[in-house]
Amino acid sequence: MQHIVKKFWNTYQKNLKSVKIFGPPAEEIAKDLNFGNKVCLITGASNGIGLEITRCLTSIDCNVLMASRNPYVARNTAKNVCKNFDRLAFYEVNLASLSSVQKCIKSLLQSQKSIDIVILNAATFGLPWTLTENGLETTFQVNFLSQYYLLLSIEKILSPNARVVFTSSESHRNVELSEGARVFPSLDHFSLSAERYTSIRAYNLSKVCGVLAARYLHQRWLHAGPAVFCAHPGSFVKTGLCRNWWVFEALYTAMLPFSKSIGQAASTIVYCATSPELAGQSGFYFKDCRRCEPSELAGSTYLAYRMHDLACDVLRQRGFYLDVNTASQIHETEHEMEEQIC
Ligand SMILES: NC(=O)c1ccc[n+]([C@@H]2O[C@H](COP(=O)([O-])OP(=O)(O)OC[C@H]3O[C@@H](n4cnc5c(N)ncnc54)[C@H](OP(=O)(O)O)[C@@H]3O)[C@@H](O)[C@H]2O)c1
Repeated sequence: MQHIVKKFWNTYQKNLKSVKIFGPPAEEIAKDLNFGNKVCLITGASNGIGLEITRCLTSIDCNVLMASRNPYVARNTAKNVCKNFDRLAFYEVNLASLSSVQKCIKSLLQSQKSIDIVILNAATFGLPWTLTENGLETTFQVNFLSQYYLLLSIEKILSPNARVVFTSSESHRNVELSEGARVFPSLDHFSLSAERYTSIRAYNLSKVCGVLAARYLHQRWLHAGPAVFCAHPGSFVKTGLCRNWWVFEALYTAMLPFSKSIGQAASTIVYCATSPELAGQSGFYFKDCRRCEPSELAGSTYLAYRMHDLACDVLRQRGFYLDVNTASQIHETEHEMEEQIC
């Protein structure tokens, strides 16, 4: 009996300490809300923090559109995790392919009238250098460009009070850019060549892009329109993120006792997406459910506008336009011209 009491006390103490240091789990943040009339689109929800956010949002009756690489896997995983499974819908998107993103955009626009929350959460980390089918460094495209393309293309169906949350990372602070790159950012600065590539650098850069995009969107939507936030979930949270290299896997495992649980990691994102306290606010960066300043680089409004222009240029050069109808018209015209030439 003494043993059981001691064990209970130790676990209680441990949990108490963990909650004190790392804050409450996401469920706690949202527990008094009812989001039965809301629709949330989330990327990267088939695993890790995104799956936990999905579980939490469906528990408050939110309808969640899970955009994932493999909707069948997402469906099976979510079935085991989410009590309100009927609140889920599944969309296929491979963020390493702009055509796949375009298809996802089309089916979202066809099937949804309005979206209230968008959580851009998918990311990859620790990959060896690879180019996507669109000729871009994979981390840059998956973590930033494709999701930005997705977001801007569904802008017209965002509800007037919508909230957009970029899952960010404190590691965005570790990026330095030359003066030239700050004034005239070009694709080479963000989509790294093999020579300049390290997976950490590419990841950090992609997170800077996200914070800059949020800054730009805040200005774009300043007077009427959605609110936008960046949320850092926590560091060294043991998820699938470290799966691509055993060294990262070992490091994240070693850090387990000192890092947030997945439930706690989801909390800042859920807070930004749902908290009534944030009504009327926008453009802020959050960590541990508290507002803080992003890095000086990521806080540059000038760079935010340049980054937006760069993203649009890169997409346009590859034949992807923010208006999906324009894109399909152009593709159709090209196709017709090809047929005439043949
Ligand atoms: N874990 C941490 O310590 C930490 C720290 C700071 C920030 N974050 C951020 O938290 C977010 C969630 O990460 P996590 O830790 O939960 O990692 P995770 O478990 O690996 O989840 C990442 C998600 O992104 C999806 N994804 C990856 N590549 C994709 C692609 N090409 N197309 C579509 N989806 C793709 C994955 O889908 P698949 O299952 O199909 O691979 C997965 O659902 C990320 O934005 C990450 O940067 C995490």
